[in-house]
Amino acid sequence: MQYLIANWKANKTLEEIHAWFETFLTLLEQDENLTRALESKNLHIIVCPAFPFLLTVKELTKNTGLSVGAQDISVKAPGKYTGEVPAALIRDIAEYTIIGHSERRSNFGETEEIVKEKIALATGNDITSIACIRTSEDIIPQHATIIAYEPVSAIGSGQNEDPALVIEMKRRLNLGTEQSFLYGGSVTRDNIAEYVHTREIDGYLVGTASLDAQHFFDLAKAVL
Ligand code: PGA
Repeated sequence: MQYLIANWKANKTLEEIHAWFETFLTLLEQDENLTRALESKNLHIIVCPAFPFLLTVKELTKNTGLSVGAQDISVKAPGKYTGEVPAALIRDIAEYTIIGHSERRSNFGETEEIVKEKIALATGNDITSIACIRTSEDIIPQHATIIAYEPVSAIGSGQNEDPALVIEMKRRLNLGTEQSFLYGGSVTRDNIAEYVHTREIDGYLVGTASLDAQHFFDLAKAVL
């Protein structure tokens, strides 16, 4: 089973989202292998838009086999927290959420403690966390079943991590059999085969290359 996750970050307007799906779903409809892989859940494709568009993406992915993910959740439960989006409010929309992305840790002061609390809140609301770690020093909180290793030097830089080093990190983490190990950081259609060939990686968290529907479709074909 493989995961392919589109992390659109703070990108894509409503209009751009509609255009992306028009292209992606047209390509998908013409591809029996991929359609079958999604139906049989051999492949999970998870699209993570900005908060205002979660519902739109949920509607656009209906009956397609694709899933919806949030890019984050609030560390707060529902209440008097203007501007926050707690897990309880999106549990019916998003099946997954990214937690602890390095951009949140570095730009918004997200600590290990916050990451841990967010994962507990996601789990309590039946949302599956995609827990991001930057190094083996980052703590993997309990209940984190999908772990995405994203070295800071590789994110958005075009300098993807050597697959051998990714495998080394996987070994060091010594994950349980129920945990999935994903890689993220400058994954493109030109380098993804190097990782797929190792047969050690359970999926990919993709930023830049996910913004283009054709490019992301090519990645989906490559992980199969
Ligand atoms: P990138 O982003 O693919 O643009 O490197 C990956 C991520 O930040 O999840």
